[in-house]
Amino acid sequence: MEDMKTTIKFGATIAKNLALGNDAIAGLYQRRRAKQGFSPEKDQTEYPLLVFHKHATTLAPLRKGGIQQADVLEIGPGGNAGASFLMLLAGAKSATCLDVVPWMQGTGPDALYPALVEAASQDPVKYQIAPSLVERARADPQGLARELMNRVTYLYPVDIAKTTLPAGSQDIIFSHACFEHFADPGGSIAQIARLLRSDGVTSHEVDLRDHRDFDHPLEFLRYNDMLWTISTSHRPNGVRNRWRRSEYRAAFEQHGMEVVYLEASQKTTVTEEMRRLYQSHFQQMSLEELSVIGILLAARKR
Ligand SMILES: C[S@@+](CC[C@H](N)C(=O)[O-])C[C@H]1O[C@@H](n2cnc3c(N)ncnc32)[C@H](O)[C@@H]1O
Repeated sequence: MEDMKTTIKFGATIAKNLALGNDAIAGLYQRRRAKQGFSPEKDQTEYPLLVFHKHATTLAPLRKGGIQQADVLEIGPGGNAGASFLMLLAGAKSATCLDVVPWMQGTGPDALYPALVEAASQDPVKYQIAPSLVERARADPQGLARELMNRVTYLYPVDIAKTTLPAGSQDIIFSHACFEHFADPGGSIAQIARLLRSDGVTSHEVDLRDHRDFDHPLEFLRYNDMLWTISTSHRPNGVRNRWRRSEYRAAFEQHGMEVVYLEASQKTTVTEEMRRLYQSHFQQMSLEELSVIGILLAARKR
């Protein structure tokens, strides 16, 4: 009865999701959304610098040579390629971004990239600028930005779980605030394992909260899997899976990767009373496990 009431409450959401299952409708909807722009505040230098710094400091120590000469893939960059661009400034050999929604118009906001070169060159050590580019970054940020942007490849619409990029083509793969939006997180991890060269490294910041209301970050654990799937499966802008920390660890390991780092970047309070309301799958988990609502995971392909 409770499930029936919830399904009725979810009616409009389910109808929208089912409509988006039609490729023509989905294409039209995503192009419209993309035209509205992704998130203007993320097109300022602070956000891409922060994203780059988080992943670069996590990944560089895990790989011989750090970022230098690496083929880098970013999954789900959103409205700009700032973080991948900074990987090139740090000496990466190539930078590829792929996204299921074409959020970036062209290569994104033109003014951002020279501004990133200028901002990063204030602190070349922190932002790991390749020694060969430090002088050029100071003297000619516009020219260098243009050159580096010409080397960013943007692929869309591409679902990471279905990409046909060649096996063993990447040294570094990263994503930021994306994994929770993947309809098929297991298939996406299988692809990451396929795309990485041996000894390749990967890092992912994942927001495990129910994005509908951040004040109730675990509310979505109450709904059964079928209801959650039929209301979210075709909506890459919404949270499509409810995987918890242990499920990420298990899947990366299952696909032949060693999880070298798994930080709980956000936590909340969960009580036994709250857990009793969750679906049985989540009831099996400890309160500590459920309290984790954000992770930074890094892994190396064996
Ligand atoms: C919340 S946004 C994060 C964007 C950016 N990384 C940031 O930090 O702002 C999630 C991104 O993942 C993309 N995305 C969702 N599902 C995807 C999939 N299956 N394959 C590739 N990209 C996907 C979305 O289109 C969007 O660009």
